[in-house]
Amino acid sequence: MSSQPLLSVRDLQTQFVSDGRVIKAVDGVSFDVRPGEILGIVGESGSGKSVTALSVMGLIPWPPGRVVGGSIMFEGEDLRAKTQAQMRRVRGAGIAMVFQEPRTAMNPVFRIGEQMTEVIMLHRKMSRAEASGEARSMLDRVHIAEPGRVMSAYPFELSGGMLQRVMIAMELALRPRLLIADEPTTALDVTIQAQILRLIRELHDEFDLTVLFITHDLGVIAQLCDRVMVMYAGAVVELSPVDALFHSPAHPYTRKLLAAVPSVVDTRNTLRSIAGDVPDLADLPPGCRFYDRCDLRQPECRLAIPDLRKVGEDHTARCVLPNAISP
Ligand SMILES: Nc1ncnc2c1ncn2[C@@H]1O[C@H](COP(=O)(O)OP(=O)(O)OP(=O)(O)O)[C@@H](O)[C@H]1O
Ligand SMILES: [Mg+2]
Repeated sequence: MSSQPLLSVRDLQTQFVSDGRVIKAVDGVSFDVRPGEILGIVGESGSGKSVTALSVMGLIPWPPGRVVGGSIMFEGEDLRAKTQAQMRRVRGAGIAMVFQEPRTAMNPVFRIGEQMTEVIMLHRKMSRAEASGEARSMLDRVHIAEPGRVMSAYPFELSGGMLQRVMIAMELALRPRLLIADEPTTALDVTIQAQILRLIRELHDEFDLTVLFITHDLGVIAQLCDRVMVMYAGAVVELSPVDALFHSPAHPYTRKLLAAVPSVVDTRNTLRSIAGDVPDLADLPPGCRFYDRCDLRQPECRLAIPDLRKVGEDHTARCVLPNAISP
């Protein structure tokens, strides 16, 4: 693996203004995505996973939201310095994104084939016939059995799992270097979810695709990812290789997440079962954001946000005690 990250995010701060209150949805997030890896982001609902991804994509809508600080470097280029038109090109060919609800990303009044062909023509400068051929071959690559039939279908005629395959095919047809997948399987049933995860793994191997995979499901992280970043209340609390996270989690929040995973099958509510509330993102405490819910809190944790500290090889955690509590 090359040492130069594909995506490098430093001290990202993204805020929303709502009823005169400033919501710090993402507050000082830093991470790299290394070429060829699958990096997972995990955290409870509202922890800032999607806002992080949308900030990278230049898709935070103003009003009410705005990236107010930090840097986002992709292949050595500063994405925050780009115009909307330049960002559209990055979103086409550089970074692709698939969402939880593929239906909302498709135009309901055009057939699948028309939509795929248009997008491919636009970004890859192909003729209509070439682009249509490419669309069909990509549908084939994502194991759609009858690409011809799917191409002439309207989005409403396809199931959620099928549509997610179509979205992935459409995005990968543009040959992006980075795929950001934001809970692409959450709306799907468990069997289809497993198929889509296998597909992403396969395409990652086949296209040498780098993936940033967002989920609230630690089972998915274990299955798919090389490294994982744990987010809590708009901040990174732990960043680690997947094995190390499961074998020696350092942050008390991560430990609770792992302890809260009830079973392999019940993946929907896995992260909702930790007692206590996430702090108000418009009125954050001065100290550790996990203070109120932490069993291991120390008086000093109230005073200042702990730094991310190295707790192992390629493994950092934002806690004053990680060494003391590691097994
Ligand atoms: N359009 C918006 N207006 C106001 N606040 C917003 C908006 N979008 C996001 N936020 C704030 O940002 C926080 C983080 O949201 P985000 O969507 O990133 O969470 P998430 O980690 O992706 O959660 P989930 O697992 O539910 O998808 C929210 O709790 C909310 O306070
Ligand atoms: Mg989200």
